[in-house]
Amino acid sequence: MKVLVLGSGGREHALCWAISKSPLCKKLFCIPGNAGIKSVAECINIKINNFNSLKKFIKKEKINFVIVGPEEPIVNGIVDKLNKLKIKVFGPNKKASILESSKTFTKDFCKRNNIPTANYKIFRNYKDAINYVQNIKYPIVIKASGLAGGKGVFIIKNKFEAKKTLRDLMIKRKLGMSGKEVVIEDYLVGEEISCLALVDGKNYIPLLLSQDHKKIYENDKGPNTGGMGAYCPLPYLRKNIQNKINKEIIEPTIKAMNKEKRPFNGVLYAGLMLVKEKIYLIEYNVRFGDPECQPLVFLLKSDLLKILDNCVNKRLNKTIIKWKKEYALSVVMVNKGYPGKFKKNGIIKNLNLITEDKNTKVFHSGTNLDNQNNTIASGGRVLSVTTSDKNFNKAKKKVYEVVKKIKWKNSFFRKDI
Ligand code: AMP
Ligand code: GLY
Repeated sequence: MKVLVLGSGGREHALCWAISKSPLCKKLFCIPGNAGIKSVAECINIKINNFNSLKKFIKKEKINFVIVGPEEPIVNGIVDKLNKLKIKVFGPNKKASILESSKTFTKDFCKRNNIPTANYKIFRNYKDAINYVQNIKYPIVIKASGLAGGKGVFIIKNKFEAKKTLRDLMIKRKLGMSGKEVVIEDYLVGEEISCLALVDGKNYIPLLLSQDHKKIYENDKGPNTGGMGAYCPLPYLRKNIQNKINKEIIEPTIKAMNKEKRPFNGVLYAGLMLVKEKIYLIEYNVRFGDPECQPLVFLLKSDLLKILDNCVNKRLNKTIIKWKKEYALSVVMVNKGYPGKFKKNGIIKNLNLITEDKNTKVFHSGTNLDNQNNTIASGGRVLSVTTSDKNFNKAKKKVYEVVKKIKWKNSFFRKDI
């Protein structure tokens, strides 16, 4: 198969790394890719949102299979457009991707289908929202309904913060049209879990449960980011939790999406909160999580390309996924200042000192090569350093040994993943 992966993050590096090892993969391209992806795939400098150029490239190279990494092209309907051209593509269509593109849709969807989620109200009118926040109990959570790259959720402690946030979203439109509608919901306190499941319309296979760390600073302080580190499987959970998630969240969602004529094919990523014994859906994403994808792929023993192909071909009931019996951890190294403003393009030093083997891998996110072929830190999130071990604490010790060797001006990472 000639395969094309779309995207440029750590998630796409991990996907390309695994796909390049598949005997089914004859040639691998990535658009646009990054400095790390270059070592496993041919990177092509085309803008993902330029569909005409993409189409020309796919035709010219006779690509057999396209795998879409990020949410934006999915939500903009790239899967529908490629399907029309009879090109095989992994990812949900636009109708199904509404689970990620509209939080108001998803909240109402959960309500009408009895999927547990935090109590909420939806506001399309600014004055109504302002009235509502006058006399309620705090903390609450205010969410922009549309896509916001992880920056559209605000934990609010009092009515002054609430009013400012509503004004920023609904009047000043700081997140553009994404803040036109807002969800205001109860604040839940518990343990966050990511459950990514492959879904082929009818059948599903949950991947190992994982945990992301969304806040920029240690002890979950500071603003939300795309994700500062993740690990899997979860060492502390009771065995029946997966079963509960399947029965209360994943299965009713697949069924209801079919009933509502939005059949889902791709990665259904359920962001969950475990509050004592109860599981709540916090959000859906319709693609692999970044950084969750990196430790997941690192522990995968089966052929990823074959699995994704089976998913598109609705053959998950005939698919078995094997995992290494280890724990994997990814620590994300970022440019200091992210998720706000940051200086970029520092030269990353000592990457050549890291020995990559079956237990250690540095996945690249925002990296590039400069004129002298130095690897530079060009994005907010820059590297996902990933290690694995049979013992969780040993994997953790190892990941920080590697992280501490890698240096560039302005690097930053969380020490408590
Ligand atoms: P979301 O984009 O909806 O996943 O929200 C981003 C992050 O905000 C989540 O990963 C949680 O850490 C936090 N969050 C969202 N909704 C809630 C909630 N109802 N209660 C507590 N924390 C929340
Ligand atoms: N790790 C969170 C996300 O991919 O949205």
